[in-house]
Amino acid sequence: MSTDVNALMSAIADIGTDPKRGGYSRPVYSDAELTLREWFVAEAQARRLDVRTDRNGIIWAWWDLPLAGGGVAPRQGALVTGSHLDSVPGGGAFDGPLGVASALAAVDLLKQRETTGALKRRRPLAISVFPEEEGSRFGVACLGSRLLTGAIAPERALNLTDAEGITFGEAIRKNGLDPALVGHDPDTMRLIGDFVELHVEQGRGLNTPGFTAPDGAQPPVAVGSSILGHGRWRLSVHGQGNHAGTTLMTDRADPMVAAAQIVLAVKQAAAAREGARGTVGRVEPVPGGTNVIASRVDLWLDVRHPDDAVTAALVEEIHRRARELAAAEGCTMTMTEESYSRTVHFTPDLTRALQDAVRRGTPRAPVLDTGAGHDAGVLASAVPSGMLFVRNPSGISHSPEEHVEPSDADAGVLALADALEALL
Ligand code: GLV
Ligand code: MN
Ligand code: MN
Ligand code: MN
Repeated sequence: MSTDVNALMSAIADIGTDPKRGGYSRPVYSDAELTLREWFVAEAQARRLDVRTDRNGIIWAWWDLPLAGGGVAPRQGALVTGSHLDSVPGGGAFDGPLGVASALAAVDLLKQRETTGALKRRRPLAISVFPEEEGSRFGVACLGSRLLTGAIAPERALNLTDAEGITFGEAIRKNGLDPALVGHDPDTMRLIGDFVELHVEQGRGLNTPGFTAPDGAQPPVAVGSSILGHGRWRLSVHGQGNHAGTTLMTDRADPMVAAAQIVLAVKQAAAAREGARGTVGRVEPVPGGTNVIASRVDLWLDVRHPDDAVTAALVEEIHRRARELAAAEGCTMTMTEESYSRTVHFTPDLTRALQDAVRRGTPRAPVLDTGAGHDAGVLASAVPSGMLFVRNPSGISHSPEEHVEPSDADAGVLALADALEALL
């Protein structure tokens, strides 16, 4: 069965393309992300949803406002589904927008089912769009959902800066939000009963040759079980800035040489622990000239593992090795944690309900964990939360090569609509 999801994804295919990196660069509150937000608002309003942006910049599109009077009684709080529209630099088309477009397309199906009498709703439904899920601009992932749930202090969030030195506070003020009102929003949280996020699968879980569901079929959709604990650390290696031509090799305190060895140490330390992932994906030499020995190099470390204690031990080992490697080059090193999210296990009842619902019309959905962070993981600390993953034949994500077949996107929408119907 075909749904609106592929037309919705095609409509935004030109927004935020990045000719230099390939793929999409849609940082939060950039022209591209703002255009996507406008697109979402128009699509939600075309479906007669009531659209509001809250004080943290999260967009909510309500099908029946809770407590609006005359609507549906908020028996167990609203059922909410959604994702994000921002991207990593040079990211794929699906990470985030697929969940938003699928939510819109699922509402279309549910409205049809209600018209025929097949759907009886007992509570409101909303679609949510979270800002700065990737942390690509201000450095802390899932910033919108962290603010909403109180997982980050507003003072800290407001002072985060982007690469141009613009603070998060300045960026949101420019976009019509009041920095004084940002932060934990218990009134909005009270409205949410359950949260379900559909997302492109970001690894090979559904794409492993020979991988089959318990009943033998090759399924296009999986249900999320858990999110690996993950965090970001900033390492600054300080050396002596100097002239590339006049400084003898023996006279150098070159932080770039230390940084290169630190990158290798991260690989070695992570590879030595089963299930661990350690990445340095961003390195910034200061001042950054071809004929200049850097005075400082900043590196950003991303570490993930299902066991929070293993992550802590791994990060400690990397910290110690990095200090030694910096000292051996005549440099010093500081390391600060920018964010950490403990391993999240999604609510088992909701996971089971999603599995049962997805069974309708498709092979039984397998249950997968994921190494990627999601707003659903942050919300899980406050409300029952779960996820659906749609097959990605490339098995690649945070890259232009991320992919979803149109028929699988349709299968994802059907699964989401069935899941929402069962929970409504
Ligand atoms: C976000 O997608 C992350 O897991 O880094
Ligand atoms: Mn995502
Ligand atoms: Mn992502
Ligand atoms: Mn993510």
